[in-house]
Amino acid sequence: MGAGVIGLAVGWRAAQRGLKVIVLEADTGPARRTSAVAAGMLAPISETLATELPLMRLGLASVQAYPEFLAELTDATGMDTGYLRCGTLLLARDSDEAEALARELSLRESLGLSAHRLRASEARRLEPALAPTLRLALDVPDDHAIDPRKLTAALARALTAAGGEVRTNAPVAELATAECRVTGVRLVGGERVAAEQVVVAAGPWSSSLDGVPEGASIPVHPVKGQILRLHDPSGPGLLTRVVRFSGGYLVPRGDGRYVLGATMEERGFDTTVTAGGAYDLLRDAFELLPSVTELVIDELSAGLRPATPDNAPAIGPGAIEGLHWATGHFRHGVLLTPITAQMVLAGLTGEEAQAPEFAPTRFATVAA
Ligand code: GLY
Repeated sequence: MGAGVIGLAVGWRAAQRGLKVIVLEADTGPARRTSAVAAGMLAPISETLATELPLMRLGLASVQAYPEFLAELTDATGMDTGYLRCGTLLLARDSDEAEALARELSLRESLGLSAHRLRASEARRLEPALAPTLRLALDVPDDHAIDPRKLTAALARALTAAGGEVRTNAPVAELATAECRVTGVRLVGGERVAAEQVVVAAGPWSSSLDGVPEGASIPVHPVKGQILRLHDPSGPGLLTRVVRFSGGYLVPRGDGRYVLGATMEERGFDTTVTAGGAYDLLRDAFELLPSVTELVIDELSAGLRPATPDNAPAIGPGAIEGLHWATGHFRHGVLLTPITAQMVLAGLTGEEAQAPEFAPTRFATVAA
């Protein structure tokens, strides 16, 4: 269930292994919601927090899997995924932010991760468009980016080429079970789709699936992010690396297009876009990259990050037989796509779990 990056990648891997795969998508096309809005940073070193070491390790494993995953995807489809090995700069505007960056640096150094302190002048040599008021930067050369819209288009094609099916306009009404095991799903409209195994990859909608026995569900709630898409009419070059700062990030696509994100808002399933959201993003970006005001606005949109109570994903078999989860990826869905597909496939084919700390059963209040 769910034709975002995660659902499509799981479906592709499962179809490659010879399983019969149907990806059910409630919307009119694959990846119309969360995945289409995501910026696409592959940034385990710069985006995960010091308190989230297992998640950082999972992200590092996924980022290492990415090049081969994409090579296979391109072989299967001939499609570009917008993967940009651009590196990331973390930026500080004042002494408080500089101190926070220094703390982040020492943690990454202690883990042997590649991150280097740059004086403002050094950072401005690398990225001349940065403001002279910059205080300090960290260079994180191994955190890159990808275009999630291109990635989902390629995954949808690869899934179909491997023998899988994507059914759009197919909202699931409920999970069907008998004697405590999954037998398929029932669609809104009544149609039954029989299946021995069901993978829930429905992002922030994952916990609203009817039919899941009480205590076997995953508590996922939406965290809204407003995000701007812009382009530079004079072409590429204004910024070549991802930049992150307190309040947001700016991701170059390498062709003069940029993504400026993102707000963090607890507003349920509301996806309206607001002047205040756009203002906050532009104000923060302007302080560090004044020429952001020259860019043309192409789109302001809002997506919903799927967050669990511990901000970590739920990946693998759940508390009832035949039910698998690939949800709760919060800020890291695009990053964690290859590793999630690998872990869910392991569960579908009966292999042992690879990362028990992300087991969905940690939320279950019924026995597996
Ligand atoms: N990973 C970027 C975001 O969630 O805004």
